[in-house]
Amino acid sequence: MKRIGILTSGGDAPGMNAAVRAVTLKALHEGLEVYGINYGYAGLVAGDIFPLDKDTVLDIIQRGGTFLYSARYPEFAQEEAQLRGIEQLKKFGIDALVVIGGDGSYHGGLRLTEHGYNAVGLPGTIDNDIPYTDFTIGFDTAVNTALDAIDKIRDTAASHERTFIVEVMGRNAGDIALWAGVAGGAEEIIIPEKPFDMAKVAEHINTDRQAGRKHSVVVLAEGVMHAPEFAEELSKFGDFHVRSTVLGHVQRGGAPSARDRVLASKMGAFAVELLMQGKGGLAVGIENNQLTYHPMDDLFESKHKADMSLYDLNGDLSH
Ligand code: F6P
Repeated sequence: MKRIGILTSGGDAPGMNAAVRAVTLKALHEGLEVYGINYGYAGLVAGDIFPLDKDTVLDIIQRGGTFLYSARYPEFAQEEAQLRGIEQLKKFGIDALVVIGGDGSYHGGLRLTEHGYNAVGLPGTIDNDIPYTDFTIGFDTAVNTALDAIDKIRDTAASHERTFIVEVMGRNAGDIALWAGVAGGAEEIIIPEKPFDMAKVAEHINTDRQAGRKHSVVVLAEGVMHAPEFAEELSKFGDFHVRSTVLGHVQRGGAPSARDRVLASKMGAFAVELLMQGKGGLAVGIENNQLTYHPMDDLFESKHKADMSLYDLNGDLSH
């Protein structure tokens, strides 16, 4: 193996640049060459590929987003697109790849490995919804961004004795809501993993109000429903001065946290080591603070589990 390629695909996540940097620097350190592929699998198929060196990755560890650009490219599920991608790998002399992203990236990586081009996947998504890893690159930053917003919203919630519904991202996973909710002292956390009863939410807010606590923050995962709809439903149970806020894509941006930079750096270097061992079709994770890897196939058959102890903890602390 002489030359590796690297791409980011799916939704961008803070720390992707740090991962690209780590892969590049580790590979160069090991005497390999590195090529960046713009726009994920779309760029691979189009041959949007260029050499990376130390200077290219200088000063990107602190930058949010991905300087390799990202794209969702479902067409890569078709063999025709895969073969066109492989033509480009041949043309640029790339022997193996690191792919950074979520589920879709791993499917592409596995197909390339089956075609003889080893690919190792790094979990890059704010959602934290990838199996076999406790944390994904970008999750910690997104939680801190959501937390910053929740803290600010609490100020106005308290000043006006309002109930705020704060919708956070996460697709079908409640992880951002759980972590930002516990850290922000949420009165309620509503996540897809746990059915909820609107009458009980209203009762809880009422009990708090009778006890003299006249504002509440409900952290709502987007996978449940949207905040305005939740606010409307809740208002049917009483006048709680409800307002809703959808945090949206602000959670995807910004400088990566120290944890995300370190995680990305560790995982990036580890991916290069795995490729050097001739391994492919693997997804890197961090489990109990140890770097691990699992066949990408195993990930497709498993489901990520949110840390439900946080849900129980929040219930104990807020009721
Ligand atoms: O997967 C990351 C994520 O930000 C999800 O939390 C969200 O549901 C989705 O992407 C939004 O996708 P888009 O940026 O395509 O609107």
